[in-house]
Amino acid sequence: MQDTTVAIIGSGSMGTAILSGMVRHGIKKENIKVTTRKVESADALAKKFGVTAYAAGYQPNANALAAEGAQIILLAIKPANVIEVLDQIKNVIAKDALVISVAAGITTATIESYLPDSVAVIRAMPNTPALIQRGLTGISVGSRVSADQLAVAVALFDAVGKSVVLAEDQIDALSTISGSGPAYVFYLMEEFIATAKAMGFSQEDAYLLVTQTFLGASELITQTQGDPAELRRQVTSPNGTTMKAIAVLEEGKLHTLFLKATTAALARAKEISQEQK
Ligand SMILES: NC(=O)c1ccc[n+]([C@@H]2O[C@H](COP(=O)([O-])OP(=O)(O)OC[C@H]3O[C@@H](n4cnc5c(N)ncnc54)[C@H](OP(=O)(O)O)[C@@H]3O)[C@@H](O)[C@H]2O)c1
Repeated sequence: MQDTTVAIIGSGSMGTAILSGMVRHGIKKENIKVTTRKVESADALAKKFGVTAYAAGYQPNANALAAEGAQIILLAIKPANVIEVLDQIKNVIAKDALVISVAAGITTATIESYLPDSVAVIRAMPNTPALIQRGLTGISVGSRVSADQLAVAVALFDAVGKSVVLAEDQIDALSTISGSGPAYVFYLMEEFIATAKAMGFSQEDAYLLVTQTFLGASELITQTQGDPAELRRQVTSPNGTTMKAIAVLEEGKLHTLFLKATTAALARAKEISQEQK
């Protein structure tokens, strides 16, 4: 793996998170080429990581220069730029290259249709905690991926958290849970902080109470691999205060609300996929 040659096309927040994972994973910086739109972004990456960086806004053939001959090509540009980038790299791409796309809503079949038949395509859906190596990535394979190529992709995303391999028709569903999930958690935190302030705590104390509680509960369930319902029961004494609070939440039909939220997100994911075609 150390000697693998890599091109990262589009090194913004997600591309750079995965670049950090690759470097930690031992891929040599001299084997990594990255591209950005702006010269300043390319310069910053070259300085920080010691990789070769090209700016597409300055060098129109930047993406082709980076992709030429690379064994792994990570597409981390915005979905709207994927087709233009595939057009730029299709004539220089190595016959046995593995293309990994994190672009939301673009299928492996669409990417395969722009590239030579021998090129393998994997689609991945990471989430924002990948930026601190606590990500969850869904990975699905296109029609030409070998077991070794899948293992490489799993290793790359495991370097920024954990991963799940799934059928491509499940990737939108995954994105409604782990992709949108951090926003659900931050929304709950916002509301909980507002509640703490309404109970008289300062902003600083309310923030600490809530963030440390979420961190502690997440660590507790992760370390014990416990059942969330059981862990909840351990905090809930019969006829105690937590029991009263949970009863109110149940009256609010949280279960139905979560189902409605994820169903709305899934419907929107399908609409976006149609728009990308
Ligand atoms: N962020 C997430 O949590 C997340 C999660 C799952 C999937 N994704 C997917 O990851 C992809 C990137 O998202 P992001 O949040 O990382 O976006 P971002 O921070 O805006 O990064 C986009 C990068 O692409 C570069 N770029 C733009 N046009 C280019 C071109 N023609 N050639 C080469 N590079 C170009 C930009 O350069 P400059 O820096 O110079 O502008 C920037 O480095 C998207 O497809 C998104 O669906 C993101």
